[in-house]
Amino acid sequence: MIITLDGPAGAGKSSTARALACRLGWFYMDTGAMYRAVTLVALERDVALDDGPGLAALAESLAIAFRDGRVFVGDRDISSEIRTEQITAATRSVADAPPVRDAMKRMQRTIAGGLDVVTEGRDQGSVVFPHAELKVFLTASPEERARRRHREEEARGVDTSLHAVLAAQNRRDEGDRIRAVGAMKPADDAVLVETDGLTEEQVVDRLVHLIEERRTSRGA
Ligand code: C5P
Repeated sequence: MIITLDGPAGAGKSSTARALACRLGWFYMDTGAMYRAVTLVALERDVALDDGPGLAALAESLAIAFRDGRVFVGDRDISSEIRTEQITAATRSVADAPPVRDAMKRMQRTIAGGLDVVTEGRDQGSVVFPHAELKVFLTASPEERARRRHREEEARGVDTSLHAVLAAQNRRDEGDRIRAVGAMKPADDAVLVETDGLTEEQVVDRLVHLIEERRTSRGA
């Protein structure tokens, strides 16, 4: 069974997807990490960030894998390196390139093949897994998302203001929305889950409930 979890940055997708996969004992696929992995290697190998075909060829050549909650390229654990501000910023152009999106779509389908998966990203329900049994679009108000991100940054020792976090987030949202291919939007048949005021556990409970409903309606 495939569950897709899409939505904007800061809606709590990653932690929710991870916790849900853990509770179900399913595989968790973090597709943002895959775009970040391609970006990291592109920067290391001097592949221009506007060279769509070059980036796609690079993406095709990489063995991206998830093991024990970590992300690997081949045998190299890149989980921390892909979380820097530099990679976050550069990943935007890489994720905009249609040939890269195409390569990632194929890779994501291969990785998920035959597994019970919780997959998380922007286009998982709308493009990559149109036949997923349950599609969720997780969101929260911009202010709530910015407050969460601000708290996380403070905890990491980053000196920033809530105002700056909100402004940067609005720019990222806009970039995700207007992307020509793979734009962030709920699939037509996605369930919208608004997480304002809910704890992670409450959100996971709600998703588990939705899964049970789907299984019952499919006679599983
Ligand atoms: O979710 P995360 O911040 O790790 O995503 C990194 C980048 O990859 C973002 O720019 C996001 O827009 C992009 N992305 C994407 N499609 C996905 C997942 C992430 O374009 N399925």
